[in-house]
Amino acid sequence: MERTFIMIKPDGVQRRLVGEVIGRFEAKGFTLVGLKLMSVSKELAEEHYDVHKERPFFGSLVEFICSSPVVAMVWEGEGVVASARKLIGATNPLSAEPGTIRGDFGVSVGRNLIHGSDAIETAQREISLWFNDKELSSWNPTVKTWLYE
Ligand code: RTP
Ligand code: MG
Repeated sequence: MERTFIMIKPDGVQRRLVGEVIGRFEAKGFTLVGLKLMSVSKELAEEHYDVHKERPFFGSLVEFICSSPVVAMVWEGEGVVASARKLIGATNPLSAEPGTIRGDFGVSVGRNLIHGSDAIETAQREISLWFNDKELSSWNPTVKTWLYE
Protein backbone atom coordinates (compact mmCIF):
# COMPACT_ATOMS: atom_id res chain seq x y z
CA MET A 1 0.00 0.00 0.00
CA GLU A 2 1.28 3.48 -0.91
CA ARG A 3 2.66 5.72 1.84
CA THR A 4 3.61 9.40 2.03
CA PHE A 5 5.53 11.61 4.42
CA ILE A 6 3.66 14.60 5.84
CA MET A 7 5.14 17.21 8.17
CA ILE A 8 3.20 19.92 9.97
CA LYS A 9 5.75 22.72 9.98
CA PRO A 10 6.51 24.94 13.01
CA ASP A 11 3.85 27.48 12.00
CA GLY A 12 1.16 24.79 11.82
CA VAL A 13 2.04 23.51 15.30
CA GLN A 14 2.28 27.03 16.78
CA ARG A 15 -1.06 27.98 15.24
CA ARG A 16 -2.78 24.97 16.85
CA LEU A 17 -3.63 23.38 13.50
CA VAL A 18 -2.33 19.87 14.30
CA GLY A 19 -5.80 18.48 15.03
CA GLU A 20 -7.30 20.19 11.98
CA VAL A 21 -4.67 18.70 9.64
CA ILE A 22 -4.86 15.20 11.10
CA GLY A 23 -8.67 15.41 10.97
CA ARG A 24 -8.60 16.19 7.25
CA PHE A 25 -6.38 13.21 6.43
CA GLU A 26 -8.47 10.91 8.63
CA ALA A 27 -11.77 12.14 7.23
CA LYS A 28 -10.52 11.69 3.68
CA GLY A 29 -9.95 8.00 4.41
CA PHE A 30 -6.18 7.69 4.78
CA THR A 31 -4.55 5.65 7.52
CA LEU A 32 -2.03 7.03 10.00
CA VAL A 33 0.93 4.67 10.37
CA GLY A 34 3.54 6.95 12.01
CA LEU A 35 3.38 10.09 14.15
CA LYS A 36 5.81 12.10 16.29
CA LEU A 37 6.30 15.64 17.58
CA MET A 38 9.96 16.55 17.32
CA SER A 39 12.53 19.31 17.28
CA VAL A 40 14.45 19.08 14.01
CA SER A 41 18.25 19.18 13.83
CA LYS A 42 19.96 21.36 11.21
CA GLU A 43 21.41 18.20 9.65
CA LEU A 44 17.99 16.58 9.23
CA ALA A 45 16.39 19.75 7.84
CA GLU A 46 19.25 20.19 5.34
CA GLU A 47 19.00 16.56 4.24
CA HIS A 48 15.22 16.76 3.91
CA TYR A 49 15.40 19.87 1.71
CA ASP A 50 18.63 18.83 -0.05
CA VAL A 51 16.97 19.28 -3.47
CA HIS A 52 16.67 23.01 -2.72
CA LYS A 53 20.20 23.57 -1.39
CA GLU A 54 21.19 25.95 -4.21
CA ARG A 55 18.01 28.03 -3.88
CA PRO A 56 18.15 31.50 -2.25
CA PHE A 57 15.54 30.53 0.36
CA PHE A 58 17.38 27.37 1.51
CA GLY A 59 19.05 28.93 4.58
CA SER A 60 15.93 30.60 5.90
CA LEU A 61 13.84 27.50 5.18
CA VAL A 62 16.19 25.26 7.18
CA GLU A 63 16.34 27.81 10.00
CA PHE A 64 12.55 28.01 10.10
CA ILE A 65 12.05 24.22 10.19
CA CYS A 66 14.45 24.05 13.16
CA SER A 67 12.90 27.02 15.00
CA SER A 68 10.10 25.20 16.82
CA PRO A 69 8.74 21.62 16.89
CA VAL A 70 7.16 19.92 13.90
CA VAL A 71 4.78 16.97 13.66
CA ALA A 72 6.14 14.24 11.38
CA MET A 73 3.69 11.69 10.03
CA VAL A 74 3.35 8.82 7.61
CA TRP A 75 -0.04 8.29 5.98
CA GLU A 76 -1.11 5.26 3.95
CA GLY A 77 -3.70 4.61 1.26
CA GLU A 78 -4.22 4.09 -2.45
CA GLY A 79 -2.89 7.13 -4.31
CA VAL A 80 -2.02 8.90 -1.05
CA VAL A 81 1.08 10.70 -2.40
CA ALA A 82 -0.72 12.69 -5.10
CA SER A 83 -3.93 13.04 -3.11
CA ALA A 84 -2.09 14.47 -0.08
CA ARG A 85 -0.56 17.13 -2.34
CA LYS A 86 -4.10 18.07 -3.40
CA LEU A 87 -5.30 18.23 0.21
CA ILE A 88 -2.31 20.47 1.00
CA GLY A 89 -2.68 22.83 -1.99
CA ALA A 90 -0.27 25.02 -3.96
CA THR A 91 3.09 26.07 -2.48
CA ASN A 92 2.01 29.72 -2.24
CA PRO A 93 -1.04 29.80 0.06
CA LEU A 94 -2.40 32.87 -1.74
CA SER A 95 -2.67 30.75 -4.90
CA ALA A 96 -3.86 27.63 -3.10
CA GLU A 97 -7.52 26.79 -3.64
CA PRO A 98 -9.98 27.30 -0.79
CA GLY A 99 -10.68 23.89 0.70
CA THR A 100 -7.00 23.00 0.75
CA ILE A 101 -4.96 23.29 3.95
CA ARG A 102 -2.72 26.06 2.62
CA GLY A 103 -5.68 27.74 0.88
CA ASP A 104 -7.74 27.78 4.06
CA PHE A 105 -5.10 28.72 6.63
CA GLY A 106 -2.10 30.49 5.04
CA VAL A 107 -1.09 33.75 3.42
CA SER A 108 2.65 33.41 2.66
CA VAL A 109 4.99 30.94 0.99
CA GLY A 110 7.47 30.94 3.86
CA ARG A 111 4.69 30.03 6.30
CA ASN A 112 2.77 27.45 4.31
CA LEU A 113 2.06 25.18 7.27
CA ILE A 114 2.71 21.72 5.93
CA HIS A 115 4.98 19.58 3.77
CA GLY A 116 3.98 16.58 1.66
CA SER A 117 6.17 14.29 -0.45
CA ASP A 118 5.95 15.19 -4.14
CA ALA A 119 6.36 11.69 -5.67
CA ILE A 120 6.36 8.03 -4.65
CA GLU A 121 10.18 7.80 -4.76
CA THR A 122 10.51 11.02 -2.74
CA ALA A 123 8.06 9.62 -0.19
CA GLN A 124 10.16 6.48 0.27
CA ARG A 125 13.30 8.57 0.75
CA GLU A 126 11.65 10.95 3.21
CA ILE A 127 9.93 8.20 5.25
CA SER A 128 13.25 6.40 5.79
CA LEU A 129 14.95 9.72 6.60
CA TRP A 130 12.44 10.66 9.31
CA PHE A 131 11.30 7.30 10.72
CA ASN A 132 12.86 3.97 11.57
CA ASP A 133 10.91 0.74 10.97
CA LYS A 134 9.94 0.33 14.63
CA GLU A 135 8.24 3.73 14.62
CA LEU A 136 5.84 2.68 11.84
CA SER A 137 2.80 0.48 12.53
CA SER A 138 1.12 -1.55 9.85
CA TRP A 139 -2.43 -2.12 11.01
CA ASN A 140 -5.71 -3.25 9.53
CA PRO A 141 -8.29 -0.44 9.48
CA THR A 142 -11.67 -2.12 9.99
CA VAL A 143 -13.32 0.79 8.16
CA LYS A 144 -11.67 -0.13 4.88
CA THR A 145 -14.64 -2.05 3.46
CA TRP A 146 -16.54 1.26 3.75
CA LEU A 147 -13.76 3.16 1.96
CA TYR A 148 -12.84 0.77 -0.87
CA GLU A 149 -15.12 -1.27 -3.11
P1 RTP B 1 7.12 21.33 0.58
O1 RTP B 1 8.33 20.66 -0.06
O2 RTP B 1 7.49 22.05 1.86
O3 RTP B 1 5.98 20.38 0.75
O4 RTP B 1 6.56 22.46 -0.40
P2 RTP B 1 6.33 22.38 -1.95
O5 RTP B 1 6.71 21.04 -2.47
O6 RTP B 1 4.95 22.86 -2.21
O7 RTP B 1 7.33 23.49 -2.46
P3 RTP B 1 8.89 23.38 -2.79
O8 RTP B 1 9.12 23.98 -4.12
O9 RTP B 1 9.39 21.99 -2.55
O10 RTP B 1 9.51 24.37 -1.71
C1 RTP B 1 9.85 23.90 -0.42
C2 RTP B 1 9.50 24.94 0.59
O11 RTP B 1 10.40 26.03 0.48
C3 RTP B 1 9.73 27.22 0.82
N1 RTP B 1 9.83 28.11 -0.34
N2 RTP B 1 10.09 29.37 -0.20
N3 RTP B 1 10.62 32.09 -0.72
C4 RTP B 1 10.35 31.28 -1.73
O12 RTP B 1 10.31 31.65 -2.86
C5 RTP B 1 10.10 29.89 -1.43
N4 RTP B 1 9.85 28.95 -2.32
C6 RTP B 1 9.67 27.82 -1.61
C7 RTP B 1 8.29 26.90 1.12
O13 RTP B 1 8.16 26.72 2.53
C8 RTP B 1 8.12 25.58 0.42
O14 RTP B 1 7.09 24.83 1.03
MG1 MG C 1 8.60 20.12 -2.06
